[in-house]
Amino acid sequence: MTTWVGTSWKMNKTLSEARDYARTLAATDQGRWPGVQPFIIPPATALSAVSEVLGPRSHVLVGAQNAHWEDAGAWTGEVSVPQVADAGAQIVEIGHSERREFFAETDETVNLKVRATLRHGLTPLVCVGEPADVFASGGSVPYVIRQVRAALDGVGDVSAVLVAYEPIWAIGARGRPAAPSDIGDVLAALRTEWGGSVRGLLFGGSVDRSNARSILGVDGVDGLFVGRAAWEVDGLLELLDLVAGR
Ligand code: 13P
Repeated sequence: MTTWVGTSWKMNKTLSEARDYARTLAATDQGRWPGVQPFIIPPATALSAVSEVLGPRSHVLVGAQNAHWEDAGAWTGEVSVPQVADAGAQIVEIGHSERREFFAETDETVNLKVRATLRHGLTPLVCVGEPADVFASGGSVPYVIRQVRAALDGVGDVSAVLVAYEPIWAIGARGRPAAPSDIGDVLAALRTEWGGSVRGLLFGGSVDRSNARSILGVDGVDGLFVGRAAWEVDGLLELLDLVAGR
């Protein structure tokens, strides 16, 4: 079984910072983490630089934080799946809660982007997760299942799809790290519904070296999607070592 460990840099890093991070990663023995699939998701500006530094034989997958559902056209400010693929992306992150909240991403646009990503042979990384009030009222499972159903609507073969469960209340500096007991029900439900069919089920939200192992111990979790704790390359390397049991 593959364990996924990756990070989105979100809106951080200049080109030289991005290259430095990628250089350190490229200089680390790629056979160091058997059974672990590392990935990094830089901002669009750094995609091609990071891909070039890592090189074609790198074990580290590279992703884009977003891509439009159309291949080309008058969509000011957007980038398409063929464009991010051309810049080296193998993964497209779709539907992160920050995009749903601040950039009007809906279940419908998430679904369009999943289809576009699959059409071009890339891996969609679909982010789902409930807000704090839904968690507090015990509605997490139906909320998250509905989001995944909507994201995968009409997609016949989901075997290339990664799903990241990222409860909104657990994400970012104002988030509260999740205890395994907080997330077990949602992950069990995701596993029952899609565990055998998708490429992997990841968890994200305040993951760091203090909780990585216990979260990976939750039934259904195939990987970790990390923000802040892996924005410095040493943080990612430390998590990769930890997960690989080094
Ligand atoms: P943090 O790990 O910083 O909470 O961010 C998680 C996340 O949103 C990854 O996409």
